[in-house]
Amino acid sequence: MNLKVSSFDEYKQVYKQSVEQPEQFWDGIAENFLWRKKWDKTLEWNFKEPNVKWFQGGKLNITENCLDRHLETLGDTPAIIWEPNDPSEDHRILTYRQLFDKVCQFANVLKNNNVKKGDRICIYMPMVPELAIAILACARIGAIHSVVFGGFSAQSIADRIQDADCSLVITCDGAFRGAKDIPLKNVIDDALVTCPSVKKVIVLTRTRTPVAMLKGRDVWWEDEIKKVETQRNTTCEPEEMDAEDMLFILYTSGSTGKPKGVVHTCGGYMVYAGYTFANTFQYEPGEVYFCTADIGWITGHSYIVYGPLSQGATSLMFEGIPTFPNAGRFWDIVAKFKVNILYTAPTAIRSLMSFGDSFVEGKDLSSLKKLGTVGEPINEEAWHWYDEKVGHGKCPIVDTWWQTENGGHMITPIAGITPTKPGYAMLPLPGIQPVLVDEKGEVIEGNGVSGNLCIRFPWPGMIRTTYGDHERCRQAYFATYPDMYFTGDGCLRDEDGYYRITGRVDDVLNVSGHRIGTAEVENAINMHSSVVESAVVGYPHDIKGQGVYAFVVSPNVHGNEDLTRKDIIMTVSRIIGAIAKPDKIQFVSGLPKTRSGKIMRRILRKIAEGETSNLGDTSTLLDPGVVEEIKSGAL
Ligand code: PRX
Repeated sequence: MNLKVSSFDEYKQVYKQSVEQPEQFWDGIAENFLWRKKWDKTLEWNFKEPNVKWFQGGKLNITENCLDRHLETLGDTPAIIWEPNDPSEDHRILTYRQLFDKVCQFANVLKNNNVKKGDRICIYMPMVPELAIAILACARIGAIHSVVFGGFSAQSIADRIQDADCSLVITCDGAFRGAKDIPLKNVIDDALVTCPSVKKVIVLTRTRTPVAMLKGRDVWWEDEIKKVETQRNTTCEPEEMDAEDMLFILYTSGSTGKPKGVVHTCGGYMVYAGYTFANTFQYEPGEVYFCTADIGWITGHSYIVYGPLSQGATSLMFEGIPTFPNAGRFWDIVAKFKVNILYTAPTAIRSLMSFGDSFVEGKDLSSLKKLGTVGEPINEEAWHWYDEKVGHGKCPIVDTWWQTENGGHMITPIAGITPTKPGYAMLPLPGIQPVLVDEKGEVIEGNGVSGNLCIRFPWPGMIRTTYGDHERCRQAYFATYPDMYFTGDGCLRDEDGYYRITGRVDDVLNVSGHRIGTAEVENAINMHSSVVESAVVGYPHDIKGQGVYAFVVSPNVHGNEDLTRKDIIMTVSRIIGAIAKPDKIQFVSGLPKTRSGKIMRRILRKIAEGETSNLGDTSTLLDPGVVEEIKSGAL
């Protein structure tokens, strides 16, 4: 069975088949991949525990699919094109053969450093090719990678390392991001003070910033490579993995507690990332594909590394930011490498729009054939700008809805095949069964309806567990509505049956496409010595999509509110990272609470949105007076 559908009629027919005979459908998709041994059983599942197993008995190594199997036909084809932060530095191209060699080499470095199948490895690196190499080298030998985005603080890294009990960290001396030089190794050193499980740190040279190298613990990437070169260790046999062996852990925020480690497994994730990449983007051999995400997020895992490489695609990786040295950088990259497919985030589009059209006009964007967006709802204005100024009205835009827990695209147009509409993710991919439910969990049938978005049948790329705490996985995704995976998103199905994601219905924010739990930010704010309590809500932000609005009770601000605000922001940066910094902090004398002590967030959300005229029923509040005070002090 072909991974790609080739017409809307075929989509409808394949979709129907995928719902009627899901196992047969997924068998056909999985046959497009390289298995050392074919699976015995396609699917075993229940959403109660939950227990989901795909392709049991199947044996594989995902790197054989991403590298070995392409060597004969695509050995000299670029696998990764790397564009550095500074446009005057040389770009790099790694062909499939070169990438294969480097992955084998680094896999041998890991082995030399005692890494074994099943060990957890934390990767904290900037967007350099060695990040992809490190990930693939882990997968090659069956080690489980846990990539942490470069914007997280030492405390956040330590939490993640401890949760997964990582034995080794791979990092860089520093990272270039725009005009900044970020000392990554320093951050790791701070994190490791509380991480006794880490025995080794491998440090790649990038910025040549001075770093502390601890004897016995810290080694240079380059030195370790030299060792395997002198050992003439050039190949590395792939570890044979069971389909349901863990491939990686990726931490993401929920509405409660600390971030959870989403677990993806080898077989199902491979099939799902490869299938969705091929189908959604209708990837054709030879096309240059540019995903602007960071590999520290799921989008980079699935759509810079595993999805494209499993399909023999050319994946462009960019180290820098869209506005450096100026807001024309993406367009220069598109012209330089004749990019055919561009996949980016609405927040990046809105930010570039705000600099005016002069940065995009006149750039050679004639190579572009397909465009995509991911991570958050896209507003119509940004959609049209992307369509007209970037796509010149000729490129289909795929607005891909999915989540870290999903492994790959779920509801999305298929480029050039299915219809598109601004702000709509449109239709589920074949194999995906979305349903809308009401508050009671009753399925809402028909069109022209809204509800909470659930998925009622498993798909190969779905979350298997949350690392070390299966009950948490059940609670977060499978306990709200019986026998369904609950996404946490609200959704509309219009008169034509097209889906539009309306945003989170839980206490999770989406700031510049980054997922942030309000409870996490509150915990961080509350760690500031003069804060008694706080409540965090989102509000509409022109560029970021959502901004972070914090209501803070702090009776003692040392007579200087502004300085205390800055101190609170610094505290959040230390505890979580700069991505979670509040945009607005309003000091209040109390929070609106019910008599049972629950904060009424609905009221705070309205105030943060500037909608103070209709706050709804406030009679159940313990002290309705605080609402007036909060309203009058709103920022
Ligand atoms: O609210 C949805 C939003 O992002 C959430 C998932 O975040 P994360 O796991 O960080 O993954 C982001 C990249 C896949 C979802 O629950 N979201 C993602 N894509 C879209 C979206 N909202 C609207 N439209 C989208 N295309």
